[in-house]
Amino acid sequence: MRIVKFGVVGSGLMGREFASAAARRCHLPELDVRPEIVALCSRSPVMPAWWQNFSGIRQYTDDYRSLLANPEVEAVYVAVPHHLHREIYSATLEAGKHLLGEKPFGIDLPACEAILASVKRHSNLVVRCSSEFPFFPGVQRVGDMLEAGLFGQILEVNTGFLHSSDLDPNKPINWKRMIEFNGEYGVLGDLGMHVCHIPFRAGWTPQNVRAILSNVIKERPDARNGRVPCLTWDNATLLCQTLDPSSGETFPWLLKTQRIAPGQKNNWYLEIYGTRSSVRWRSSRADILKVMSYNGGEQVWGEIQMGHETAFKSITGGIFQFGFSDAILQMWAAFLYELKHGPPVKRFAGCVRPDEALLSHRLFTAALASQKKNEVVWL
Ligand SMILES: NC(=O)c1ccc[n+]([C@@H]2O[C@H](COP(=O)([O-])OP(=O)(O)OC[C@H]3O[C@@H](n4cnc5c(N)ncnc54)[C@H](O)[C@@H]3O)[C@@H](O)[C@H]2O)c1
Repeated sequence: MRIVKFGVVGSGLMGREFASAAARRCHLPELDVRPEIVALCSRSPVMPAWWQNFSGIRQYTDDYRSLLANPEVEAVYVAVPHHLHREIYSATLEAGKHLLGEKPFGIDLPACEAILASVKRHSNLVVRCSSEFPFFPGVQRVGDMLEAGLFGQILEVNTGFLHSSDLDPNKPINWKRMIEFNGEYGVLGDLGMHVCHIPFRAGWTPQNVRAILSNVIKERPDARNGRVPCLTWDNATLLCQTLDPSSGETFPWLLKTQRIAPGQKNNWYLEIYGTRSSVRWRSSRADILKVMSYNGGEQVWGEIQMGHETAFKSITGGIFQFGFSDAILQMWAAFLYELKHGPPVKRFAGCVRPDEALLSHRLFTAALASQKKNEVVWL
């Protein structure tokens, strides 16, 4: 059993999700590598109480540089606001540590390019970007179908991530709604990488984009009960002419990321329509994968109840439903697997690579230009 000693930078929502998943390592009995969190960095001068759950943490610091100087730390998970990605991700690599960094992997394209330059200088390190939804069993099954070439010619792909987290105009502003911390991409920086992961892993390449971005709620309450400008994009719809290199044909790919989507709580979806098979999956009905195969005759949509069919074998019985924290667990298992073994266990059970994160930045930067010019922009 290989043990990888981790430092965690950022103790908020995702820092805790990651740590909690690491504590559940015994859930994956066949994984031959396990994480141990030995160091934590956050902004608070004292370690937040929740982290007392981890008796293995021997270093707490509010300076990420001291965590990176800790020789015991072999790999680092970083979950901090976007304006800090470039500095902390690059410093992690320069310190010789493996990195699992949160999306969007830099606040903008120049930041992502700077991180990629560090990645190039340290090709011995495993560097991946977080994105967990492809690890849901329904999406893994779609990945298997893509690998087996069951779709025929791809006709159309729709991917999206719909929230209603910002529907309430009186929700106070936070860093995710402020350009200086979240970035010009707005909702695309927050949710965009999630909806690109499967298409990019399939090798589908957007050639151009027409984007419509909306800033619906233009001011929000602040901590002092005043109202302040809220300038980030709330919703984004992107239509891309996309090349499938395996057929040489192009198809329309429609991406939607919305923080103001009435009726939605947290809905990540994937639809692929092909000449031989089509699929529809959404996280709000995560157990159900809808599939239609066409070989002549009637077109009949079927529903598969996926249960717990996971890339990394779990102790949970195969009939039981899967959830968000299970997807996080599978994602870090994928990171650890790649760290130990190199290639992912399956093509669609791999974490986002730096080149895929960079491609997402090129797409989102083109989307900003498309919105500004009100025209199609080529990548
Ligand atoms: N994969 C996902 O599903 C998912 C979901 C939400 C957020 N995210 C991403 O995770 C990252 C963090 O988001 P979050 O929701 O956890 O935010 P959060 O606000 O809950 O937590 C951010 C943490 O960063 C810490 N921090 C800020 N400045 C720091 C510094 N200089 N040094 C060390 N720590 C510092 C804060 O103390 C806080 O603990 C972002 O990149 C975000 O896009 C990913």
